[in-house]
Amino acid sequence: MTSIRRLTSDDLPRLRQFWVEHWGGEEMVTRGNVYRPEQLDGFVIEDGGEWIGLLTFFVKDGECEVTSLDSLREGQGIGTELLNAVKEDARKRNCERIFLITTNDNMHALRFYQKRGFEMVAVHRGAVNESRKIKPTIPLIGFDGIPLRDEIELEMILNP
Ligand SMILES: CC(C)(COP(=O)(O)OP(=O)(O)OC[C@H]1O[C@@H](n2cnc3c(N)ncnc32)[C@H](O)[C@@H]1OP(=O)(O)O)[C@@H](O)C(=O)NCCC(=O)NCCS
Repeated sequence: MTSIRRLTSDDLPRLRQFWVEHWGGEEMVTRGNVYRPEQLDGFVIEDGGEWIGLLTFFVKDGECEVTSLDSLREGQGIGTELLNAVKEDARKRNCERIFLITTNDNMHALRFYQKRGFEMVAVHRGAVNESRKIKPTIPLIGFDGIPLRDEIELEMILNP
């Protein structure tokens, strides 16, 4: 039986550990910004006590940035449920848009987000190379053997 809930401060140690396991460190770096778990909101989907999906986000100046999204049981609706949860939350907070960064190698994520209403609005060329200077664990080679170089920004405008 799975259920979704909001992250709380009690989840911080587990969130850090999750990021270490899945993203190579306790912080996320995009466009030169460093995000640490204690700054972020998030939703987790659990099966019993097991985390099977996690989304974190950061709201600032009327914009909502999704800082991480992971599904550990793909193709079962977990990613979509988490995305719907953040959309609803961002609307309640009167955000004008939701945006996120993915990388040039992540065809699966580009497909996933575009099918759910996100549009590509920028390619930040070489931005992963810059992020790697801050977080050296970011690999040089990404999915399908593609060199990991650029950050691609996608957004969804939220209508009032
Ligand atoms: C991208 C990611 C979050 C998608 O998560 P997911 O849980 O597989 O997403 P969903 O299950 O909601 O949707 C995936 C597909 O499964 C299908 N699906 C959903 N529920 C289903 C079900 N019950 N039975 C069969 N198929 C189902 C969906 O229709 C969807 O297909 P579509 O995109 O063609 O519409 C996941 O692949 C992931 O964690 N990737 C690694 C980390 C990553 O790259 N994160 C994003 C970087 S910013």
